[in-house]
Amino acid sequence: MAPLSEKPIVAATDLSVRYGAFRVLHEVSVAVRRSEIRVILGASGCGKTTLLKTLVGLLKPSSGSVRLFDVEIGEQDDPETIAVLKKAGVLFQGGALLGSLTVEENVALPLEMHTSLPPRLIKEIVAYKLSQVRLTGSGPLYPAELSGGMRKRAALARALAHDPPLLFCDEPSAGLDPITAAGLDRLLLDLRRTLGITIVVVTHELRSIETIADNISFLQDGSVLFDGALADAAKLTYGPVHDFFTRTEPPPPAGSGGQGYGFIVERDP
Ligand SMILES: Nc1ncnc2c1ncn2[C@@H]1O[C@H](COP(=O)(O)OP(=O)(O)O)[C@@H](O)[C@H]1O
Ligand SMILES: [Mg+2]
Repeated sequence: MAPLSEKPIVAATDLSVRYGAFRVLHEVSVAVRRSEIRVILGASGCGKTTLLKTLVGLLKPSSGSVRLFDVEIGEQDDPETIAVLKKAGVLFQGGALLGSLTVEENVALPLEMHTSLPPRLIKEIVAYKLSQVRLTGSGPLYPAELSGGMRKRAALARALAHDPPLLFCDEPSAGLDPITAAGLDRLLLDLRRTLGITIVVVTHELRSIETIADNISFLQDGSVLFDGALADAAKLTYGPVHDFFTRTEPPPPAGSGGQGYGFIVERDP
């Protein structure tokens, strides 16, 4: 990971995001350093996808700011914003490959959009990217002909096609069997080790988090409840983050006869 003195690759400060009157994120801050793998986690519906979309400029925060590579993300037609967003690869929830295009045509898309490389070179790069995700030979297939794991890997190849130094992934292993999910985790670790890329990944798969995370941002009720090293999160002995990692059901809220989190609840080890 980059030294603390270096500016973070992703710096979100006091982000608040709403859908109409419904506030999803409240003053969320997150800083991700070069070559860090940051996992964003929290219960379903807590705003993880919303945060990711805001980080890549797809949603505009009602207040707060996002800087990628020390450039403030502005309007979608702002040239500086467009240029810096090209440095980010995004793997959305569900993969979102275009069903009418073959795997290799899907992977070629960002290269055709963001570069003026000749078709022959694009073909070579696509073949290399497919080999990186172990999909050599699957280029001529259509997404519907792939298994779930292959589709995720194809979407990852597309997100990485133009060699972005920053990668955002939204629940990459959701819906995959544990072995395929473990393969995807290994792939992310390899990308960081070999290319030094910075990765922000939303996941709530415990095994995945324990395998890949350097640092985590734990969201609850639209705010960051914990921001720090995975190792430090694992040392917590009570509270929602502890419960998440130990798969403990939360205690009943205070006033309902049980003890809420206003108290320290001692538990047997
Ligand atoms: N386009 C939208 N319009 C209105 N509400 C939305 C929209 N997208 C998400 N939400 C709501 O915002 C909250 C956070 O959603 P999301 O960021 O997708 O959560 P997560 O990814 O953590 O499951 C949820 O309550 C969801 O229903
Ligand atoms: Mg989501």
